[in-house]
Amino acid sequence: MPWWRRSPHNDTGGDLLKVSVIGAGTMGSGIAQVFAMAGDETTLIDIYKEALQKGKANIERSLQKLGEKSALSTEPDKILSSITFSSSLDSCKDSSLIVEAVFERLDIKKDIFSKIAEIISPGTIIASNTSSISINLLSSYVKEPENFIGMHFFNPPPIMKLVEIVKGRRTSESVTKKIGDISRSLGKDPVFVNDYPGFISNRVLMPMLRESIISLEQGIASVEDIDKTVKLGLNHPMGPLTLCDFIGNDVVYDIMTVLFNEFGDPHYKPPVLLRNMVFSGKLGRKTGEGFYKY
Ligand code: CAA
Repeated sequence: MPWWRRSPHNDTGGDLLKVSVIGAGTMGSGIAQVFAMAGDETTLIDIYKEALQKGKANIERSLQKLGEKSALSTEPDKILSSITFSSSLDSCKDSSLIVEAVFERLDIKKDIFSKIAEIISPGTIIASNTSSISINLLSSYVKEPENFIGMHFFNPPPIMKLVEIVKGRRTSESVTKKIGDISRSLGKDPVFVNDYPGFISNRVLMPMLRESIISLEQGIASVEDIDKTVKLGLNHPMGPLTLCDFIGNDVVYDIMTVLFNEFGDPHYKPPVLLRNMVFSGKLGRKTGEGFYKY
C-alpha cells in the first residue's frame, strides 16, 4: 500500500488522500475536481464566498459534460457533493497534501503560506500550481522546504493530461516521487523539471503567444487569420489568440512579465497591445471580451 490512501472510485482499496486546494478560480476549482473524481477527500478553500460559488458552478458544468460522455465512474452529483467548500484556511488542518492555486501574486502566496504554517502538521506536502514564480523562492516561505514542490496543472485541468512537476533545490526525492505517483493516480502523465523561469511549458508557449500578439499589433493579419494559421497550419487545438483569451490575458501578461524580468530576453517582453488590453479589462473569456467577444 503506498503512503497515501487511494480512492474507492478506482478500486485500489484503502482510505483516501486528504487534499485541500486553496483558491477556487478556474485552475483551483478544476484541480479540486480532478482529485474528487479520483475519489480523494477534497476540500476547496477560498476566502471569497463569491469565488467559491463560481468555482462550484465550474465544477458542476464540467462534471455534467463528463457525465454526458459517460467519462465518470461515479455520478456527477455524488462527486460534487463529496467536495467540501470552505471559506476558512483552517479547513486544511488535517490535509496530507495542500495544493495552492491562488493568483500569481507573490505577496498573496507568501501570506497564505505563513498562515497555513500555523495550522498544518509536520510532514504535510505543499504543492504550488504556480506557472511562473520560482519554486525555490516560494519554498523559502514555508517551514519544511523539503516538502514543498511545484505541481503545475493545465487548463482545463479535468481534460489536460500533463502535470509539470517542478523540483526546488531543497525538495526531497521522496516528495518528488510521491507527487509523481499521485499525479498518475489522478490519470495524469507527469513530467519532472527543475526550477527555472517558466519551467518548460511557459518557456516554450509564451514566445509563441507573444509573436502572435505582435503579428496582430503590426497589422500582418487579422485575429481570425492568425489563429487559423496556427490551428490549421500547425495543427494546434486552439489558435494562440483564442488561447490567450482562454488562459486569461492578465495571466499571460503576468507570466511574460516574470519571464522577461528573469531572462532579460526581449522574446518574453509583454507586447504593449497586451498591456493595454489588460489595463482596460479585456481579459478574455472571463470578462466577456479579449481578442474576441464572448
Ligand atoms: N470539463 C469537461 N469537459 C470539457 C471541458 C471541461 N472544463 N472543456 C472541454 N471539455 C470537453 C468538451 O465537452 C468536449 O467533449 P466532446 O469532444 O466529447 O464533445 C471536448 O472537451 C472538446 O471540447 P470542445 O469541443 O468544446 O472544444 P475543443 O475541441 O476546442 O476542446 C480544449 C477544448 C480541450 C480546451 C482544446 O481546445 C484544447 O486542448 N485547447 C488547448 C488548451 C491548452 O493549451 N491549455 C493549456 C493552457 S496553458 C496553461 O494552462 C498553463 C499556464 O501556465 C498558462
